[in-house]
Amino acid sequence: MQIVRDASGLADFSGGVLVPTMGALHAGHMALIERAAALAGEGGGDIVVSLFVNPTQFNDPSDFERYPRSLEDDARKCEAAGVACLFAPDVGAVYPRGVESAPESALPRVATAPGLEDRFRPGHFAGVCAVVSRLFELTRPRAAVFGEKDWQQLCVIRAMVERAGGKIEIEPCPTVREADGMALSSRNALLSADARRRGLSIWRGLEAAQVETDPPAAERAMRRMMEVGGVEVEYAAVRDAATLEAVRPGRPARALAAGVVGGVRLIDNMPWGV
Ligand code: PAJ
Repeated sequence: MQIVRDASGLADFSGGVLVPTMGALHAGHMALIERAAALAGEGGGDIVVSLFVNPTQFNDPSDFERYPRSLEDDARKCEAAGVACLFAPDVGAVYPRGVESAPESALPRVATAPGLEDRFRPGHFAGVCAVVSRLFELTRPRAAVFGEKDWQQLCVIRAMVERAGGKIEIEPCPTVREADGMALSSRNALLSADARRRGLSIWRGLEAAQVETDPPAAERAMRRMMEVGGVEVEYAAVRDAATLEAVRPGRPARALAAGVVGGVRLIDNMPWGV
């Protein structure tokens, strides 16, 4: 495996399958890498993993500073998983003209779906779009794998790629969970045992939503479960799975939730009504 620090080392790896990450790799990221390996096996190309804690997508500077970082461990995991190139650039290689987000005006509509991520993390998707489009430009992949754990992010990336002509195949990967249901997340490492217990009520809320048959009742059930469990709820919503606007009859829907426990922000989602 090659560890590449800037654009000059990437030429050999174009046409591969990219897995963009911010590192602190866990089993959720490894599932994406396995999916990338399967795609590379079917259609050719190398597996490229990018590891970059992107400053422009953190609206809270302290979240950026305490974000877990573990390059050596991550490199070992990638090597063992058959990754050909670990692209771990510094800020200058990604943002040669200085740290900049994509203009809000260039964002796909789904990025600003009311009441979801944009309301609680304004500017977040402008940072995600800036970094992912730059990573695409640098690594020139034929396909890229993204987790369903960040459902709205997956919708935003799909829309961004479609708008750019749809040349990169965007492959979704289901959410990997702990045995008790908790979605794996790099931020889980920041949770105390008590906050971890409370955080599980986000998953419980999503499960509670499943037994309700209309969206407002499902949203109330989710919110109640999270509140009772000790989560500061940001949102608990049931939306059209593709547009993230109001549910439409006959179209797939998704339950999405976000909240804060012990100062750590957690998000999760599940299909709803299927
Ligand atoms: P990060 O949080 O490191 O996640 C990298 C990828 O792993 C994302 O596609 C995310 O959805 C996926 N992922 C995280 N936890 C998962 C889980 N439990 N199961 C399945 N997939 C999971 O998302 C980002 O980084 C950044 O926004 C990035 C796209 C790299 C841009 O900076």
